Amino acid sequence: MDNDKPGKFYITTPIYYVNARPHIGHTYTTVVCDTIARRQRMMGVDTFFLTGTDEHGQKIERSAAAAGCSPKEFADRVSGEFRSLWERMKITNDDFIRTTEPRHMRGVQAMFTRLQERGFIYKGSYSGQYCVSDELYVDAVGPGAPCPECGRPTETVHEENYFFKLSAMQEPLLKFYAEHPDFIRPETRRNEVVAFVKSGLRDLSVSRTSFKWGIPVPGDPKHVIYVWLDALANYMTAIGYGSDDPADQRKLARYWPADVHMIGKEIVRFHCVYWPAFLLAADLPLPRSIIAHGWLLFEESKMSKSRGNIVRSETILETLGQDALRYFLLREVVFGQDGAFSFDALVQRYNADLANDLGNLSSRTLSMIARYFEGEIPYPSPSESTPADEAIEKLAQQTIADFHAQFEQYQFSRALETAWGLVSAVNKYIVENEPWAVAERDDKDSKARLATILHTAVEALRVVTALVHPVIPEATARIWSQLGLGDIRQLDLRQLGWGQIQAGTKLGKVEAVFPRADKSMIERMQQMEQQRSAESETKTPPEPQPAKSATETTSSKPTLSPTQGDKSGAPAVPEKISAEDFFKIEMRVGEVKVAEKVKGADKLLRLEVDIGSEVRQVVAGIAKAYEPEKLVGRKVVIVANLQPRKLRGLESNGMIVAASLDDGQPVLAGFLEDVPIGAKLK
Ligand code: MSP
Repeated sequence: MDNDKPGKFYITTPIYYVNARPHIGHTYTTVVCDTIARRQRMMGVDTFFLTGTDEHGQKIERSAAAAGCSPKEFADRVSGEFRSLWERMKITNDDFIRTTEPRHMRGVQAMFTRLQERGFIYKGSYSGQYCVSDELYVDAVGPGAPCPECGRPTETVHEENYFFKLSAMQEPLLKFYAEHPDFIRPETRRNEVVAFVKSGLRDLSVSRTSFKWGIPVPGDPKHVIYVWLDALANYMTAIGYGSDDPADQRKLARYWPADVHMIGKEIVRFHCVYWPAFLLAADLPLPRSIIAHGWLLFEESKMSKSRGNIVRSETILETLGQDALRYFLLREVVFGQDGAFSFDALVQRYNADLANDLGNLSSRTLSMIARYFEGEIPYPSPSESTPADEAIEKLAQQTIADFHAQFEQYQFSRALETAWGLVSAVNKYIVENEPWAVAERDDKDSKARLATILHTAVEALRVVTALVHPVIPEATARIWSQLGLGDIRQLDLRQLGWGQIQAGTKLGKVEAVFPRADKSMIERMQQMEQQRSAESETKTPPEPQPAKSATETTSSKPTLSPTQGDKSGAPAVPEKISAEDFFKIEMRVGEVKVAEKVKGADKLLRLEVDIGSEVRQVVAGIAKAYEPEKLVGRKVVIVANLQPRKLRGLESNGMIVAASLDDGQPVLAGFLEDVPIGAKLK
């Protein structure tokens, strides 16, 4: 993570397409960047962290048409979901760029003009096949021929286009890669890119006339600028490229070039070939590194909307919390490789590493200090020190050095393993030194020994807490304040060393940080996820489907294909179900007897519904659309044979049937005629 503008660090995520709602695949990239950004700030570096949404192109134009709204309305809604998810997760991005913003559009046009003026863009014509999904012209023959990259049917187009002289950039690119061995990481991706460029580059069409939803070519508005040129430029437009404002120009001079473009491996070609080629042609500095990570797999394939194997971050945030998700993603996935997600693995990791190891270390150390030393960090006594204490000190020092080194090398999983090595060693040290037994001996030496043990344990806890703060920010902030150390954000990580905790420091209120998750949590999360995906099917339309099941699943596949994830696999349309399946669902007419808001949940109402045979408690997510008072006496339809589940600690026995509008607003199902309570729907 070196740079030659010392003291600054600029990191970006890809800007996410708005044709799919955020899932934990997107969260993965964002969390990795957020963790790096947080750590850089703790190391005293002036950090700028950018994320945003990619909103132009035919795919989005079509998705919007299918959803019956304008592309802008469509983009506003999904972009808003990304933004609010990151806010909820307390992601520390410094800006959020949307490609439909004027500052971006202006910057893209400036870049296009610059490339044109420098002689790298010319007008030509193209006849052939076009893949809408990949937004690429492809070598395929005949109408409807499958795209060689993703397998979806291509469309025949005859277009007059602007072309970028990519062919002229072959040698400059190869020279650049050779001079900057760390430009593309990991090594395997770098090798793929070099081989691809060596195999020859053809000029790239950088405008389209076949659709309108894009940034017009300056002076020739029947053309819109190619989506990838538009999208890639975000990394510069967000920090002021194309603006005359001196403040923007200062910002650009301060932060560009980016230090890290973090991407998923499927968009390597765009970032490692096209983007540097545009920048070389425009005579602009190139980013320092492009880092491609692997995919998060769910049920053994890449999580994607079209496969329907998506997990949303919200489910995990509402159950185990954001730290659990962050820790899991960084600990469980070996960075650079594909990693599998499952609720089982998540809960297991959470319980083992957070609730047990770190949670126990923190709660027992702090509660013993509270009990035996009236909540004040005790003075260690050198005369009572043993080799075991020294071993912990040595290990802690080694842990600090190793953790930093591994983190700098993007080995997040190993760095966390290193930190947890210290956690386990201290837990073992506590068990072996039995402070509770020492406390029972009422002599001076024992008191001094007890002080030394607890001082050692608490110092190690402080070291681990500081190191892992960028990964699990909320819990560590709480432990830090329980340690009596105030606001962890004030900590300078460069100064972290052994022996810095001040004896006499008064602990804050000691409480458990990671409540244990029981088995039922897994089922609960699965149910929540099912409900979410059922709801979301009504919100964003399915994407066009491929003609054949294509590429993505394992990390061994070459990834220079321009497929952009989310685009292959099983149809999104649910399978047809039999009448028998349908009859398994018991729907009944009920009458609302009691309706009230649920404390702390602005979307939920607690209802008591009379369904003839009994009165059911149902918790429904309709509070934003219905005043509770107005529901009492109203007839509703309820799914009566759903397994009960708990929401905000309340058992919900059934589901109220409602239409879900595009903006997520529910509208309750009802009847024009009067129907008796308990009547069955079929
Ligand atoms: N809009 C383009 C990127 C333009 S950047 C100038 C795009 N968008 S995307 O919505 O498809 O997001 C792609 C990125 O989201 C991936 O490169 C990756 O960072 C992240 N991920 C999406 N699904 C993912 C997984 N299942 N696993 C890991 N990361 C995933 O491509």
